[in-house]
Amino acid sequence: MSLPTALTLSHQLIQSVLQPGAWAVDATVGNGHDTLFLAQSVGDQGHVHGFDIQAEALARAEALFRKHQVQERITLHQRSHDQLAKTLPPDWRGRVAAVMFNLGYLPKGNSSIITRCETTLPALSQALEWLSPGGILTAVLYTGHPGGKDEADRVLRFAATLPPRQYRSIRYQTMNRDYAPSLVAVIKSKKQTATKA
Ligand SMILES: C[S@@+](CC[C@H](N)C(=O)[O-])C[C@H]1O[C@@H](n2cnc3c(N)ncnc32)[C@H](O)[C@@H]1O
Repeated sequence: MSLPTALTLSHQLIQSVLQPGAWAVDATVGNGHDTLFLAQSVGDQGHVHGFDIQAEALARAEALFRKHQVQERITLHQRSHDQLAKTLPPDWRGRVAAVMFNLGYLPKGNSSIITRCETTLPALSQALEWLSPGGILTAVLYTGHPGGKDEADRVLRFAATLPPRQYRSIRYQTMNRDYAPSLVAVIKSKKQTATKA
């Protein structure tokens, strides 16, 4: 048996939650591999919205989707993921089964264009708000690039301080390898307790 990487485990966890016909979001489309995985998991009755700030990433991703003939079930936005709440269809609020974040920079792209705490943290908050009860958010964190460790620490703190009645958050990381990516996964409770005004 081999232990999964952080990214593989994120796919496995999401796969266990996503049903055909579900709605999902990729908050960092990049080359499109995670969006493709989401689109294949939700099937032709489901839909995926994807965000990336780079035109180059979206162009590569679109080519991948066409190759796999899943472009009809994906809507892409060249927009920062902290615009998620302003961008998703209003009827998606509270009904998104899975949201993926794969942070850092575009592989084989400009490594100075990276995800940043100022937008990552608001995007994570919005994503949790839009998740359905029982839905899952995953974030793969990288620390090998400038700014990565700070962002990873802030995301870990965010996940560690979520109210335990509403969310369960876990962390997974290879311990004996420098700069090994870590996975944060957050499940939204099926039973949401009303918060007092
Ligand atoms: C590690 S890559 C994502 C890999 C991708 N999921 C895949 O399957 O290939 C991170 C991506 O986040 C994008 N990004 C950076 N800041 C962003 C932001 N504020 N909103 C959305 N995407 C952002 C980068 O352009 C880059 O393409």
